[in-house]
Formats: sequence, structure tokens, C-alpha cells
Amino acid sequence: MKITFYGQNSLAIEVSGKNILVDPFISGNPLSKDKVDILSLKADYILLTHAHEDHILDAEAIAKNTNAKIVSNYEIAMHYQAKGIDVHPMNHGGNWKFDFGNVKYVNAMHTSSFPDGSYGGQPGGFVIEGEHKNIYIAGDTALTMDMKLIPLQTKLDLAILPIGDNFTMGIDDAIIASDFVECDKILGVHYDTFGFIEINHDVAKKKFFDAGKDLMLLEIGESIEL
Ligand code: NI
Ligand code: MN
Repeated sequence: MKITFYGQNSLAIEVSGKNILVDPFISGNPLSKDKVDILSLKADYILLTHAHEDHILDAEAIAKNTNAKIVSNYEIAMHYQAKGIDVHPMNHGGNWKFDFGNVKYVNAMHTSSFPDGSYGGQPGGFVIEGEHKNIYIAGDTALTMDMKLIPLQTKLDLAILPIGDNFTMGIDDAIIASDFVECDKILGVHYDTFGFIEINHDVAKKKFFDAGKDLMLLEIGESIEL
């Protein structure tokens, strides 16, 4: 499984020969808009955690360019289906076996409205069980006790957690979250994009290190292999 970071919560995941994009927000991200051409991105699936603009901005353009299927909660799926896009609706607690692995849409503590204010369902995260590796994409969320449910069923190899604070968990809560999900390998996301969520990278890494954990912070376009 190869994971590439495109800023905020935007990720590309290659697994079992399939290309998955998560929360594509690139053309409006000052950190990534000049580095990544959204029409060059490959996608068989686009997973959306919730309807906020910093997660869905480029989903429609990429889906129409690639014929990717959008996977999200029911309300977000219907929003894109009405635009003629292929969708797979899910809701909290539900699993589906896709051709790249099992996906579970799990709880997140946040909000989820579209940029025009229309209802975007309830926000979520994704647990992806791939052929060899399992990952948790928390999406935008507070620290929540529900995270303790995840390791009851899935042994995670990587937890992708927001660490930017203000709108989501900050560093200290993300460290506790990694305890809850029982995964000491963390990819930090949802930081530095806007002034409200700027972080000190060295402080963040040291806090995780001191807690016995490995926090990875990737450059825009940088990849890791699991
Ligand atoms: Ni959000
Ligand atoms: Mn967000």
C-alpha cells in the first residue's frame, strides 16, 4: 500500500492495483495548488469523510475526469449522484467489500455541511483493510471514545490523524487517539493549511516521540510505502 499526501486531508492510496483519492482539496489549498494538477490524478474511487469545502472541493472535477466512484455517507453520495457521478453510499458502522479491500465508515465528532450550507449528513472516518495492511483515516474529528472500538476488530498498521487543533484534535489529543486505536505509527494531517491550524513540526514530532510513537509529516506530493 502506497500513500501520497497532497495537503490538508488529501491523500492518494494505491492498493491492489486500484487508485483511491481521499478528500481531494488541492486547487484551493495555497500549499498544494501550484504543485499538483488535479487533472493528472488517477482515481478509481474518491472517499469523502464529510462535506466541508476543505475536503470535497476537487471531488466533482476529478470524478468527472476519471469516472471515479465517490464513496461517502448517504447524503454526500446523493449530492454527487444528482450531478451524474457514480457513487457508493455508506453510513456509520457499515462495511463494504470493495475490489481493493474492506471499508468501514466509522464515527467522527465534527460537523458536515456543504459550502452552500446544505446538509452533508454526519461526518465520518474510514477504516480500510487492504490485502496486507490496515489503515484508519480519522477525518476531521475530536478525540472520541468511539475510537476505542476500532482495535476490537482491526489491527491497524497506520493511523492518519488530524493534528492541527482548533477545528479538530490537536497534538495532545491525537496522541491519546493513537492510544485508543492502538497504533503507534501516525501520519499527521489537517495542519498548516490556514493560520488557525499552523503547528510547530519539531514540537509535534517530539511530543509523539516522547510518548513512544512515530509521527510522520509528509511534504506535498511525498509518499510512504506500507
Ligand atoms: Ni471539516
Ligand atoms: Mn477540515
